[in-house]
Amino acid sequence: MEHNWETVVNDLAQIKVTASFDNEPVLIEGAAKGFRCIGVGTDAAVFQSLAVPEYAYKVYAEGKLDKLEAEVYARIGSSAYFSYCYGAYDRLLVLKYEEGPTLFDCLLQGIHIPEQVIQDVEDARGYIRQIGLNPRDIHLKNILLQNGRAKLIDVSEYIKPGNDFRWEHLKKTYEEYYPIIKGTPMPFWLLETIRKWYHHWNRYSSTFDGFMRIVSEQLNYRK
Ligand SMILES: Nc1ncnc2c1ncn2[C@@H]1O[C@H](COP(=O)(O)OP(=O)(O)O)[C@@H](O)[C@H]1O
Ligand SMILES: [Mg+2]
Repeated sequence: MEHNWETVVNDLAQIKVTASFDNEPVLIEGAAKGFRCIGVGTDAAVFQSLAVPEYAYKVYAEGKLDKLEAEVYARIGSSAYFSYCYGAYDRLLVLKYEEGPTLFDCLLQGIHIPEQVIQDVEDARGYIRQIGLNPRDIHLKNILLQNGRAKLIDVSEYIKPGNDFRWEHLKKTYEEYYPIIKGTPMPFWLLETIRKWYHHWNRYSSTFDGFMRIVSEQLNYRK
């Protein structure tokens, strides 16, 4: 199928995306006829065309443009664990639209997260290491639940060195605490509070286990 991405680039130029501070999502101003926003992150907002819904356009905030993400996608190629990048234009990436709620949405809505999702992320990370990249920044809003399986989005940090331990922490929390909450919808304020605490977790305890204990005691989610 042939596409005139230039038209999309022009349409989306009417939308201003601005970065926020302290790990908060970007802000969007303006609108483009025929497009809807399907998600925001700390670097970009993602839009879908109502007429051609199979694509997702990741529009970066000024100063957050990451040309390397397209390169990472090129190295990943076609993989069941990841989305696909069709090209990079100006300040946006053309991605394959992926259905499904993020794991963050699953916790909010009480949608059950099966263990298979955890295994899929482990396997996806193995694949990323195999191709010489570094799986990083794997958190609740960067994983979609798609037909009981995991789909990872946001590969922008795979080119950076170092381990941020986000996935290890998430996996541990799933194993130890998910059996308690299972399909219970979590209030937004509670997830936001934990997210903000986690951002500075080592202020509260020298170990992640210690941090998790403090959080579960404060919120009365005891094992
Ligand atoms: N290919 C996609 N298909 C569907 N939704 C997507 C896609 N890519 C991103 N999203 C949605 O947009 C949000 C922000 O995208 P993301 O790539 O994580 O941006 P950032 O790099 O700013 O974190 C995601 O949490 C998700 O909800
Ligand atoms: Mg993200």
